[in-house]
Amino acid sequence: MFHFDVETKDDWWEVEALYDLCFAPGRTALSSYRLREDVDPVADLSIVARDGDGILAGAIRYWPVHIGTDVALLLGPVAVHPTHQGEGLGGALIHDSMSRAARLGWHRVMLVGDEPYYRRFGFQRLSGVVMPPPTNPDRVLGHGLADGIWDGVQGDVTRYEV
Ligand SMILES: CC(C)(COP(=O)(O)OP(=O)(O)OC[C@H]1O[C@@H](n2cnc3c(N)ncnc32)[C@H](O)[C@@H]1OP(=O)(O)O)[C@@H](O)C(=O)NCCC(=O)NCCS
Repeated sequence: MFHFDVETKDDWWEVEALYDLCFAPGRTALSSYRLREDVDPVADLSIVARDGDGILAGAIRYWPVHIGTDVALLLGPVAVHPTHQGEGLGGALIHDSMSRAARLGWHRVMLVGDEPYYRRFGFQRLSGVVMPPPTNPDRVLGHGLADGIWDGVQGDVTRYEV
């Protein structure tokens, strides 16, 4: 019913419009956006989902971040158009993109979000991983794409520098 493709340059504003529709106004004021400024999303992990008519139904992007001296993926934004929410598309986008991430050699995924939603994908609260303020620490979640990969990973989350 939906087909997934890597996002292209031509998709950018359509995806932004979907995020504007799905998130509360002022989403770019959130602390996670400070980590995305002047950093490109991970191209191979920005996925758009379109329905049979080619209409955008959902999208996910990831950014690289530093945690202390370690590197992780910051998952998000992920959004599904209100007319398609609850059909499993958000879950499919998260599963598909995290499988791609593992194949590409990424090991750690973190996000700021609702634990009751993300725990089904294996995300758990990260202690000692500090997002820029203001962020509720209970919403800072991580998932390992390899065993034990979060062990000892602690520190401030900062913008990715090559
Ligand atoms: C969150 C979102 C991406 C989920 O996509 P979706 O396609 O609707 O989700 P799925 O169909 O895969 O899963 C639906 C399930 O997730 C649950 N769910 C959705 N959002 C939830 C939340 N914030 N907290 C807890 N559960 C949630 C639904 O109740 C449903 O539960 P069920 O399987 O027990 O019926 C989508 O609702 C959305 O775009 N929301 C607005 C933007 C947003 O909040 N993005 C996430 C940022 S943290």
